[in-house]
Amino acid sequence: MTETVSMDIRSRALELREIINRGNYRYYILDDPELSDAEYDRLMKELISLERQWPDLASPVSPTQRIGAPPGATFDTLNHSLPMLSLDNAFDPGDVMDFDRRVKKLLKAVDPIYYTAEPKLDGVAVEMVYRNGVLEAATTRGDGITGEVVTANVRTIRTVPLVLQTDLQAPELLEVRGEVFISREGFKRLNQDRLGEGLPLFANPRNAAAGSLRQLDSRITALRPLEVFCYGIGRAAGIDFSSQGEILEGLKNFGFRVNPLIQYRIPIDQVLAYYRQLEQDRDQLPYDIDGMVIKVDDLALQDILGVTSRSPRWAVAYKFKALQETTQVLNIEVQVGRTGSLTPVAHLEPVNVGGVTVSRATLHNEDEIRRKDIRIGDFVLVQRAGDVIPEIVKVIDSKRTGTEEPFSMPSACPVCGSRVVREKDEAAIRCINAACPAQVKERIRHFCGKGRFDIEGLGEKLVDQLVDAGLLKSYADIFGLTRQTLENLNRMGPKSAGNIMGAIEKSKDIRFSKFLFALGIRHVGEHAGGILSRRYASVEALSSASAGELESIEGIGPVVAASIADFFSNEDNRTLLARMAAAGVRIFQEERGSTRGILDSKTFVITGTLENQSRSEAKKRIEAAGGKVSSAVSGSTDYLVCGDSPGSKFAKAKELGISILDEKALMELLAGGK
Ligand code: IVH
Repeated sequence: MTETVSMDIRSRALELREIINRGNYRYYILDDPELSDAEYDRLMKELISLERQWPDLASPVSPTQRIGAPPGATFDTLNHSLPMLSLDNAFDPGDVMDFDRRVKKLLKAVDPIYYTAEPKLDGVAVEMVYRNGVLEAATTRGDGITGEVVTANVRTIRTVPLVLQTDLQAPELLEVRGEVFISREGFKRLNQDRLGEGLPLFANPRNAAAGSLRQLDSRITALRPLEVFCYGIGRAAGIDFSSQGEILEGLKNFGFRVNPLIQYRIPIDQVLAYYRQLEQDRDQLPYDIDGMVIKVDDLALQDILGVTSRSPRWAVAYKFKALQETTQVLNIEVQVGRTGSLTPVAHLEPVNVGGVTVSRATLHNEDEIRRKDIRIGDFVLVQRAGDVIPEIVKVIDSKRTGTEEPFSMPSACPVCGSRVVREKDEAAIRCINAACPAQVKERIRHFCGKGRFDIEGLGEKLVDQLVDAGLLKSYADIFGLTRQTLENLNRMGPKSAGNIMGAIEKSKDIRFSKFLFALGIRHVGEHAGGILSRRYASVEALSSASAGELESIEGIGPVVAASIADFFSNEDNRTLLARMAAAGVRIFQEERGSTRGILDSKTFVITGTLENQSRSEAKKRIEAAGGKVSSAVSGSTDYLVCGDSPGSKFAKAKELGISILDEKALMELLAGGK
């Protein structure tokens, strides 16, 4: 007898599908997960079991039909030959002293125990397997037993040697463990690019690193500024170490990056002193750390201490206090971005979080507010990490009085009153009016900014003033501004007006790639701008390219291609371009292919530390002479420029028989001596 599905069950199944689909989107597309893995698995299990029990519910569009297989594919999995354990936490000096006492007691030791003290990076743990010196596989930590195979992605990380650097025979097996991360600077640049390309931003460097490492297309990973610090090993054969210090030194010699701040072989009181120092220096470091890892140095002692099912008894993580404080949400305001997206922002009672006053926090979108149930008047826990915009972690429920007001996104644009829409598969709500003053202001600001027209003096406030006064309706209007108009504005002296007119005039000569970036075409940032400018001789040529043609260009996907074609087919945009040309904007081309420099399109790779110049200076010199500098050694590399402590590129270049130059030889070559 078949029972009919009750309404309750049907609606639960629908709800589960929606939650899982949204979770998938956040995880795979936005790289900004909102569900924990455990939660995701639990929901999926519940849905599978409902669909099994009530076959009526089955549907080809249910997420159960593609478990873990979003469009594209998934990663293979691999068991770690030794589990990748986690660490017990210590939160204060007392916990650390307890750890030291426990170690001594278990070892029946009377003499002091020596430790290594290592910054604990906040990234993603990976294991790299080298067989006979060659990188064979790389995996994520996964659940500690089984990891995902991300070899192609890890290969793109510049600081991972593909071949161990050694003059002797490489060990038969070496499993190297480390933390993959993105620096604060790299994170900032990545998000700036994404902003330029109209893509969702990463919440913090850790999410950006995790998302980049778990890209199914390793060509995308290759564009992300991933770095790695190695801190340990798994199994090894054909090589022996007797201490953690020796392991770290050995890894350095093999060409791995090991954190230079690590303290070797120190007693516990110095470990505590080092922690205080690290906590002070933390904000100045170029990457995020969330504490310190303390490890018994001597491997024989580590062996005696052994491991529990979860963590080793010979190590402990001493975590920093989280940069979190409690404060109140005074209001929630909605901002309108360049592409019309509406972003809710919480105004907070100003509060000092680890030395920085926080008075605003981004709320991302409506789903986020719902999920955390944030209301105006709520007391909330705010968190700050590195340079990242502060976030609300959660509402302090116990402080609710019942007078808090729930917030919902407006159904019309708060600036121009136009209709707003929520696009399919997007968390963002957009104002559809391209002439919305908020959008116009943001587009003009983007246009004037660094890396685009770079018009000094035409800052945020002035753009606001000019748009509000109806003097700027589009970026093309900038070139019609007169000195008189500027002088008539409030608080603008003749000198400033003159300077701005000068800056506008100067900006009219612009590189093609910057011009394209400035236009604010959705999905076209600095990177895509560069690709297009190398491919097309002029704006006219680009504007008549079809989406199909654009899509055939390496590095331009279908979404970007459609967006470009869309932009140029729009009559208003064509008028803007014509007006800019008429106003005297002159676009110049970057050198395309054929250069007449002394290095004549030769391809260089630079590795190691140069004595008399930075790598970027050397790069500029090479490019000025017509050469190209690429980041990875390949068959098409002509020269490897090699400084002190070169990375794995040296081995690779030798393997491929590529000419290797020292700094002196490079300078001779540049001087035309060869
Ligand atoms: S040692 C058994 N050293 O912290 C030893 N871990 O909770 C375990 N981490 O999954 C790892 N920096 O992702 C170790 N210098 C360091 C570390 C470090 C960051 C991370 C790693 C690990 C987690 C342990």
